[in-house]
Amino acid sequence: MEKTILITGGAGFIGSHVVRLFVNKYPEYKIVNLDALTYAGNLENLTDVDQKSSYVFEKGDIRDADFIDNLFTKYQFDGVLHLAAESHVDRSISDPMAFITTNIIGTVNLLNSARKIWTEGFENKLFYHISTDEVYGSLGEEGFFFEYTGYDPRSPYSASKASSDHLVRAYYHTYGLPVVLTNCSNNYGANQFPEKLIPLAINNIKNMKPIPIYGKGENIRDWLYVVDHARAIDMVFHEGKIGETYNIGGHNEWQNIDLIKELCAIMDRKLKREAGTSESLITYVKDRAGHDLRYAIDATKIKDELGWVPSLQFTEGLEKTVDWYLNNQEWMNRIVSGDYEKYYKKQYVTRDS
Ligand code: NAD
Ligand code: DAU
Repeated sequence: MEKTILITGGAGFIGSHVVRLFVNKYPEYKIVNLDALTYAGNLENLTDVDQKSSYVFEKGDIRDADFIDNLFTKYQFDGVLHLAAESHVDRSISDPMAFITTNIIGTVNLLNSARKIWTEGFENKLFYHISTDEVYGSLGEEGFFFEYTGYDPRSPYSASKASSDHLVRAYYHTYGLPVVLTNCSNNYGANQFPEKLIPLAINNIKNMKPIPIYGKGENIRDWLYVVDHARAIDMVFHEGKIGETYNIGGHNEWQNIDLIKELCAIMDRKLKREAGTSESLITYVKDRAGHDLRYAIDATKIKDELGWVPSLQFTEGLEKTVDWYLNNQEWMNRIVSGDYEKYYKKQYVTRDS
C-alpha cells in the first residue's frame, strides 16, 4: 500500500537507521525525514539512501508550530514516527530548557498538526511516539521495567520524555488520536554521536585518551543493537495495537566498567595493541548528578504479541560497532572538532578536577 510517512529526527542516530530500513524495505512509501540538524543531526548518516526517489529531506524545527502545520498540509501524512528529541542526559543536566521545548512542546506541535490534518477520520492513520526506558526511573539490584511500571523520571531528559509520553496518551484518550508508544533501553551501533558512552570510549581508546567512567562504574544499562531497535519499530508501526505501549530491550545488562573492559579488549585486538593497553586509559571521574543505578527492560509483550526478539549477541554487535567506527574515521573526525571540543572540555575537564 502506498503511504506517506513522516520520520522526525531521521538524521540522528536511531532515526537514520529507521529511515534506512523504511526506504529500503518499503519502496512504495514516500519517506519524509524532518530534522532540525542540531549538533546531533548529521545527513552524512544517510548518504546510502538519500538519492532514492521515495526519500525527501525537510530541514525544520518541531518547536515551530506553523512550520509543522504547513508540512502536514503539504504532505498529508498517513503515519508519523516521532524520534526527534534532545537525547543526552548530561546535556539535560547542564541545560534543561532545550529538552523542555523540543521534547515536550515539539511533541505537542506534532500531535496538534496530526489532529488537524486527519479531519476525515483516523482510519489507517498512526502517530508512533518513540521513547525511552528512563521514564520508569531507576531499579535496584533486582526487577525489571514492565509496560505498567509507574513513571518516576529523575533527570530533566527523562522527565521531558515522560511528559511527552503522557501527552501522547492524553491525545489518544481525549481526542481518539491513533497512537502507539515504545520505551526502549540503551542503543549502541554505527552513527551514534560520541557524547554517548560507547562511541566516546571507542574514539578515546583509538586516540589513547583517558576513558571517563562516572563514579565507580557500577551503574547498569541494558544494551540493544540499534538495527534491532529499528526492526522493532518497523514491527510496531505495522502490527502494533493502537493505544498500546511496548517495551523494547536487549536482555543484556552490563555494569559500565565491565562493558568498557570488554570494549578495551576488542580494541586492543583490532588495533594490534598489547593486551591491557586500552584498559590502562580507564579514568574514574566525578559521578553524573542523580545518576540512575540500573535500567532493565522486560520485553515479553513485544515478543509474545509481535514476535520481536533481538537478533544479535552483544559481543557480535560490539565487534561490528567497533569495526564501523574504525572504518569511518572521517565521520568521527568531522564531528570531534569545533563545538564538540568545547562541549568535551566543559563536560570532562571540570569533572576531572
Ligand atoms: P539523537 O540525539 O542521535 O538524534 C536526535 C535527532 O533529532 C537529531 O538528528 C536532531 O537534529 C533532531 N532534533 C533535535 N531537536 C530537534 C527539533 N527541535 N526539531 C527537529 N529535529 C530535532 O537521538 P537518538 O539517540 O537517535 O534518539 C532518538 C529518539 O529515540 C529520541 O526520542 C530518544 O529519546 C529515543 N531513545 C533513544 C535511545 C538511545 O539509546 N539513544 C534509547 C531509547 C529511546
Ligand atoms: O536508556 C535509554 C537511554 O540511554 C536513552 O533514552 C538516552 O537517549 C541515551 O542517551 C541513553 O542514556 P544513558 O545516560 O544511559 O547513556 P550514556 O551513553 O550517556 O551513558 C551510559 C552509562 O555510562 C551511564 O551510566 C553513564 C555512564 N557514562 C557515560 C558517559 C558519557 C560514563 O561513565 N562516562 C561517560 O563519559
